[in-house]
Amino acid sequence: MLYAQCYMIILLIFLTRTVFGVDEQTTASTVISTSATSTENSFQNIDAGTLAKAINIPTCESNCTEMLLTKLYGILELKDIFDQWKNLCTEYNQSTACMEQPNHCSHGEIYRILTSGIHYLCIRKEMFFDKNRDCIQPNLDQGAQECDRSCKMIQSIADLSRKPSVQDAAQKGGNIITVVTELGGVCSAANCFLPCFRERMNKKCPRSGGMIVDGILKPFYILAKFLENATPLVTNIVDEKMPRSCSFLVKRESLDSIRQQPV
Ligand SMILES: *[C@@H]1O[C@H](CO)[C@@H](O)[C@H](O)[C@H]1NC(C)=O
Ligand SMILES: *[C@@H]1O[C@H](CO)[C@@H](O)[C@H](O)[C@H]1NC(C)=O
Repeated sequence: MLYAQCYMIILLIFLTRTVFGVDEQTTASTVISTSATSTENSFQNIDAGTLAKAINIPTCESNCTEMLLTKLYGILELKDIFDQWKNLCTEYNQSTACMEQPNHCSHGEIYRILTSGIHYLCIRKEMFFDKNRDCIQPNLDQGAQECDRSCKMIQSIADLSRKPSVQDAAQKGGNIITVVTELGGVCSAANCFLPCFRERMNKKCPRSGGMIVDGILKPFYILAKFLENATPLVTNIVDEKMPRSCSFLVKRESLDSIRQQPV
């Protein structure tokens, strides 16, 4: 059960690319997301404080990862993504060093899974991104923003953060299962955004879109593999609690199809 919860956390963090450690200037009483059209408005509609509290990560890990998550959150603004990403890579090295301190906490394995996509893109593919910087850097924001306009990815995260049940969970100290049951909209948006973004970037800078999407999907492959070997008890809970629109993220074949099929 503990494992099931851990993997749910993984699922969440990479879907919502969350937000812990962001200060709580955005409170519940502010804007209820109206039909915002631009990414900028959608980003501002994200109630970061509520999401952070609803998910409620253990403090031991958050000590090392707070800044990393703040940087991830910044990327949701979809502006200067390349430079923000490079900063994130620097931060990733620091939080990894922090996690590797002896006796830091017992979640080293979870940290590695959660950051497997970051590791892939920052370390293993560092040369590729440096070499192709002149193409990728100027095209990244536009690609992400265009796909966000058609897929409403950022708005779906803002909507999640403003659901009454999620706000309620946040006020009561956090409940990851509640958040998972509300992930439907985010998953539908991701199912649109990921192939869109992959195609668009591949057209501008060969292989770059596929590589970035591969990175984003890394933790989900680990999750899918875990569920393939899990007991019926665990898989039943996942089937029951997770919205249908999210199941593509935990099945190997559907993950493969995001990476391979033409849109
Ligand atoms: C966080 O790190 C600081 C120093 O880096 C340490 O003093 C503090 O006890 C840590 N807190 C937790 C909750 O681990
Ligand atoms: C992070 O560390 C790796 C080696 O461990 C290094 O190759 C990479 O350049 C570092 N990245 C940044 C942004 O500091």
